[in-house]
Amino acid sequence: MELSQLVVQTCLDGVVLLRVSNPPVNAISTGVRRALLDAVEQADTDSAIRAIVITGAGKSFMAGADIRELGLPALPPSLPDLCNRIENCAKPVIAAMHGVALGGGLEIALSCHYRLAAEGVKLGLPEVLLGLMPGAGGTQRLPRLIGVESALALMLSGRHVLAKEALSLGIIDRHVLLGDAAAAGVQYAHELLNAGAGVRRSRDAEGLKDHAAAQALLDEARHVLAKKSRHLFSPHKIVEAVQSALGMAFSEGLTQERAAFLSCLQSPQCEAFTHAFLAERAVSKAPETPGAPPLPVMAVGIVGGGLMGAGIAVSAIDAGLCVRMVEQDDKAAARGLANVEKVFAGQVSKGRITQAGMDSALKRFSVSTDYQSLKDVDLAIEAVFEDMNVKKMVFERLNLTCKPEAVLATNTSYLDIDEIARTVSRPERVIGLHFFSPANIMPLLEIVVAGKTDAQTVSTAFEFAKKLRKVPVRAGVCDGFIGNRVLAVYRAAADHMMEDGASPYQIDRALRDFGFAMGPYQVADLAGGDIGWATRKRRAANRDPNARYVQIPDRLCERGWFGQKTGRGYYLYPQGSRTGEEDPQVLAIIDEERRRVGIEPKRFTDGEIVRRYLAAMINEGANVVFDGIALRPLDVDVTFLHGYGFPRFRGGPMKYADTIGLGKVLADINEFSVADPLFWKPSALLVDLVGRRAGFATLNNALS
Ligand code: COA
Repeated sequence: MELSQLVVQTCLDGVVLLRVSNPPVNAISTGVRRALLDAVEQADTDSAIRAIVITGAGKSFMAGADIRELGLPALPPSLPDLCNRIENCAKPVIAAMHGVALGGGLEIALSCHYRLAAEGVKLGLPEVLLGLMPGAGGTQRLPRLIGVESALALMLSGRHVLAKEALSLGIIDRHVLLGDAAAAGVQYAHELLNAGAGVRRSRDAEGLKDHAAAQALLDEARHVLAKKSRHLFSPHKIVEAVQSALGMAFSEGLTQERAAFLSCLQSPQCEAFTHAFLAERAVSKAPETPGAPPLPVMAVGIVGGGLMGAGIAVSAIDAGLCVRMVEQDDKAAARGLANVEKVFAGQVSKGRITQAGMDSALKRFSVSTDYQSLKDVDLAIEAVFEDMNVKKMVFERLNLTCKPEAVLATNTSYLDIDEIARTVSRPERVIGLHFFSPANIMPLLEIVVAGKTDAQTVSTAFEFAKKLRKVPVRAGVCDGFIGNRVLAVYRAAADHMMEDGASPYQIDRALRDFGFAMGPYQVADLAGGDIGWATRKRRAANRDPNARYVQIPDRLCERGWFGQKTGRGYYLYPQGSRTGEEDPQVLAIIDEERRRVGIEPKRFTDGEIVRRYLAAMINEGANVVFDGIALRPLDVDVTFLHGYGFPRFRGGPMKYADTIGLGKVLADINEFSVADPLFWKPSALLVDLVGRRAGFATLNNALS
């Protein structure tokens, strides 16, 4: 694009309006920087111009540095140079913000002399969410402007603030309640000129005057980070940079900030976070969508009012949809209603919604025992017991009752959706919507496309996910789809290690140290061991008799130790506690099992635990891509980031594999396969990529 198109200038009565125009979000690309610098320099030297207003065209001010340019060699002018040039202007520069002013966008605004924002604006420095930090003076100007406490809180959380809060914090000077930010900016410029107001630089603001108080806040921030963000790189760099703001001259602070910013930019964490950001946007676009506009979904039917059905209902009600639930009898219907009410009541008690909000939400909800109540719904979701025959019966009823164009979805976690689809006369309308528990909280939604599902049904499901603010991942039909299929394999790898000598507590600890929020045995205790037990029993008949099968989990389940809900599982949960304590009896059961199968326990290092666990996850992730169950490796990554607690700073299992090198992953698998060749079979995709010296990333570009 021509530079002149990236910044559109209009000049009237001595005030020039510079409108950045780089759709869709006015990301600050190299071209934008160049065009804005040219325009600012020209305006500063033009004696006919007395004030400069910077604004954004379209929906936003500026959404920050262009994320797609992050990995590329930086071309001049740099963003810090642009910001410094703006701040050094000899005539007033005003930022007129609307939509979003994020990251570098806000840093540009901070280097302007005055700032106003329209209603609805979102301001923030979200770089930390990309493994980065503000690198164009944000860490130096913001604390001077609003003090260390508020500045650190914004930069360490990356959260957005609205105009009202921004005004009270002192980030902006004026909150425009009605009308256009640009027009208000021009008017503000005239008012400033009429009042004889000159330039006013954020670098000269006095928010750091109370040195001792600021130092105490920085010390406290370091302490909190050491505990809460020990895995992360950039938050520590942000604190260091604010320390420089406190102890150094502005220009020296800028130099320190730049060095710290570059170290973040070059860190694997930045690459991983950026990958996650772009992958999330890629998964939200189904290949079917462009050719098949979604059907409108206003009313949703849900069959089954257990915890899953209720969670889905709450999620849909929260999205403003009407929900009709069907249960098999009055007692179950009452329980379904109670489950839904309980979730809302929990939100009221946590202060997330008001009682009035709950009452009005529940007006969009009804429960019945009559399938006829579903005759007008646009989408029906079956969330009944995980049993093929029960599900088939539900689908037969839905087929008879629902209008012909309605989408019929199943929330099965494992079952064959093609088989379910065969029970209806409109298999093209059947799809899997695999929610994760608790469904109103967990962001992931696997959208499982069956053999006969048509494009419009797929795009309707993606639109529905968007309404529910879920992260959709398209999956194909197989036992467990993407997530649970891979989970079964790495959980087996963990069980093998447990039987071979590692305690479940060591395994959990090692994986938490890697960055998982919880280890697999904590997860099992939270989810409830009975669910996995039922699945194992279901699969028992088809299990390869030569495959290794660890019976320790069954031994716990036989005792009724299902985890948190029964007060004990792998851990003990005294008096309903949610943090488990290690249980010597569990260790004794494990020892007994080792003796029974004749295993002499060996010691595992934490590093080996991580290597085996991740190798199993990556290898099955590769199989899932190879089999076409996941469209690309990035779909596996998003699944694990949003459904299985994979540490975001590592980007997902496939991204992590690329980071450590696929050759190393393959070498690990080959090493492990010496003892158990049946379990450790290298994926054909992994072997192929290693042979071509390529990474999973090379397969991500096809559709994104
Ligand atoms: N650089 C480049 N592209 C960006 C971008 C940026 N800073 N911010 C957003 N985009 C792109 C998205 O990738 C998406 O592109 P696509 O349509 O090709 O997938 C498009 O803009 C719309 O973004 P999306 O997130 O889908 O829209 P939204 O309205 O839900 O959210 C934002 C808009 C700006 C709030 C959100 O995209 C965001 O938080 N962006 C990152 C801001 C940031 O971190 N800035 C600091 C960068 S260092």
